[in-house]
Amino acid sequence: MDIDLTLRAKEFASKDPFPMMGFGPIEWWVGNAFMTAQAFRALLGMEIVGYAGPETGVRDRSSYLLKSDQIRFIVTGCQDGDHEIAEHVKLHGPGIKDVGFLVPDAVHAHAMAVERGAESYREPVKIENDRGRMVIGAIRTYGETVHSLIELEGEDPRFEERTDTIARPTGLHAVDHVVANVELGKMNEWVGFYEKIFSFTMLRHFDDEAISTEYTALMSKVMAGGNGIIKLPINEPADGKKKSQIEEYLDFYKTPGVQHIAMSTDDLQTTISDIHGRGLETIYVPHEYYPEAKERLAGIDLDWDNLEAESILVDKDDDGYLLQTFSKMLQDRPTVFFEFIERRGATGFGVGNFKALFESIEREQAKRGNL
Ligand code: FE2
Repeated sequence: MDIDLTLRAKEFASKDPFPMMGFGPIEWWVGNAFMTAQAFRALLGMEIVGYAGPETGVRDRSSYLLKSDQIRFIVTGCQDGDHEIAEHVKLHGPGIKDVGFLVPDAVHAHAMAVERGAESYREPVKIENDRGRMVIGAIRTYGETVHSLIELEGEDPRFEERTDTIARPTGLHAVDHVVANVELGKMNEWVGFYEKIFSFTMLRHFDDEAISTEYTALMSKVMAGGNGIIKLPINEPADGKKKSQIEEYLDFYKTPGVQHIAMSTDDLQTTISDIHGRGLETIYVPHEYYPEAKERLAGIDLDWDNLEAESILVDKDDDGYLLQTFSKMLQDRPTVFFEFIERRGATGFGVGNFKALFESIEREQAKRGNL
């Protein structure tokens, strides 16, 4: 954390009842951390900047720290079949275990969350070496997922430093939002959880009228904290004629969890063209989407041929417009995927694209025999 952030945190503390400076590292629990780290480096251009494992004195697991500008991923696998990470992967497949938040005082934040009713996952500990100083504790949230509360000065002291001379960045800048899928009928309970534990507020609400296609429906509420820097949409399935993508997720992940991580870029068309060239597939947007989108975005000068060639979606709201697209599933099970987003003023989530997006997802679901 640099001085600027510390000052900002102090400023927040005076206004915000649960100050946060942004997303901390997002940790994946996977079957093969080495290969996952290689894939994120090759496909997304993330740099591998740290390692912890048997060679550095951590006997039971191997973790890689990856970064792209402000984004930090940790990918962790284990050394033994009866380890809790192996059990987690066996039951859920690869997935996201920990969505970290950066806080100005981790001991205080953890104590406050627990006092407000959160279940502690890890009591705060201090880790300090010549690379940096960290205080980290964690609380439980939906499913098996946890939120680490992290106070950090300097580099993450849990990792041995690596210099990555191979990664070629694709312009991914920051985590824009992290979306949870929760059980049928539980969305409001989790909205209440984020209000009560972290003093988050509801930014937006999409009902099943807004988010439905001929076949499937879902409801979503967007919770925000850290003065709006942290955005966590929460989805629950709604009744549709066929199985919704949220139900499909819950069937395969076997518990609520993170559905997608949205990462921002300042130039989505360049980023996506680069990512496509590396072999990461994104969802297919049919030709019919574009005449309708042109009408919605009338008066805005866009390179529509390029947007269609790269299957990029466009939407506008009261504040501006945005470009977005979505990766296909990142593992064998239909659970977690990425969103790539460029905001040109817009603060929304692309509600005008939900129908086109879900129809695209349904085509994939139908191929899997899960619709
Ligand atoms: Fe999203």
